Amino acid sequence: MNLPWTICTIAWTALAVGTAVVLLFRTAPYGRHSRSDWGPTLPHRMGWIVMEVISPVALLGVLWWRFDPDLAALSGYQVGLVALWLGHYVYRAILYPFLMRWKEKRMPVVIMLSAVVFNLVNGGLNGAQIGAISPPSDIPIPMWIGLFLFVAGLLINIQSDAILRSLRRPGETGYKIPEGGMYRWVTSPNYFGEMLEWIGFAMLAATPAAVAFAVWTAANLIPRALSHHAWYKDQFAEYPRHRKAVIPFML
Ligand SMILES: NC(=O)c1ccc[n+]([C@@H]2O[C@H](COP(=O)([O-])OP(=O)(O)OC[C@H]3O[C@@H](n4cnc5c(N)ncnc54)[C@H](OP(=O)(O)O)[C@@H]3O)[C@@H](O)[C@H]2O)c1
Repeated sequence: MNLPWTICTIAWTALAVGTAVVLLFRTAPYGRHSRSDWGPTLPHRMGWIVMEVISPVALLGVLWWRFDPDLAALSGYQVGLVALWLGHYVYRAILYPFLMRWKEKRMPVVIMLSAVVFNLVNGGLNGAQIGAISPPSDIPIPMWIGLFLFVAGLLINIQSDAILRSLRRPGETGYKIPEGGMYRWVTSPNYFGEMLEWIGFAMLAATPAAVAFAVWTAANLIPRALSHHAWYKDQFAEYPRHRKAVIPFML
């Protein structure tokens, strides 16, 4: 990787650490942590699709622009990485927002814009670095473990999202204690699954940009999981005492 890309990626990762510190003290204002003083809002589903679709578009756009206009020169290994990225975002950007019952829900425009910038940089950096990978001659064991973590994380994330979705009947907006799946052990298994996915992806891709994304995911989701956990304990006297916030038996 050349020097400008290296500097960009290091700065990007450092920003993730700074963001985590801010988020530990100031929870991002959406969902149960919404506040009315974050300016104009837009329909939640529209905001969600726009902000998430940017990531695969940026990844494919940079690959196409910088490396190979018809993408035919990419190795099978590079195509596999792109396929995993696209698989995640088909779920996150397209299926998830239509599965959720978000008819009345709204999102602050500033949250959508900050996620658009995040996904633009993240997708772009990862596209650039996936495009520059030389495929390994064989797949070493850490990469197989990475693939396993990615797939396991995606399944945990999808299952946990589905359990949350099943808690409300049409028209309901309140909160219940989620049960089943990995909710036996943690308050936010959806975030745990998401973190596993991107740690796995970083092991597979072995690029600084993929590591930066794994760090960013933890930087966003660990503070949010801690806020959710404190919120549940505050709202529900019967909230299971043994349940951790996001990492089973640890945190
Ligand atoms: N890679 C990243 O950096 C990143 C960042 C953010 C999110 N994500 C992923 O995006 C997905 C959604 O994230 P999120 O922060 O919106 O998750 P969340 O806070 O767990 O909420 C997910 C959905 O479930 C509903 N819900 C949550 N707890 C509930 C309960 N106890 N009873 C009834 N309904 C409940 C929420 O409603 P309300 O909105 O009304 O609370 C929301 O519609 C997750 O899978 C997460 O991993 C990834």
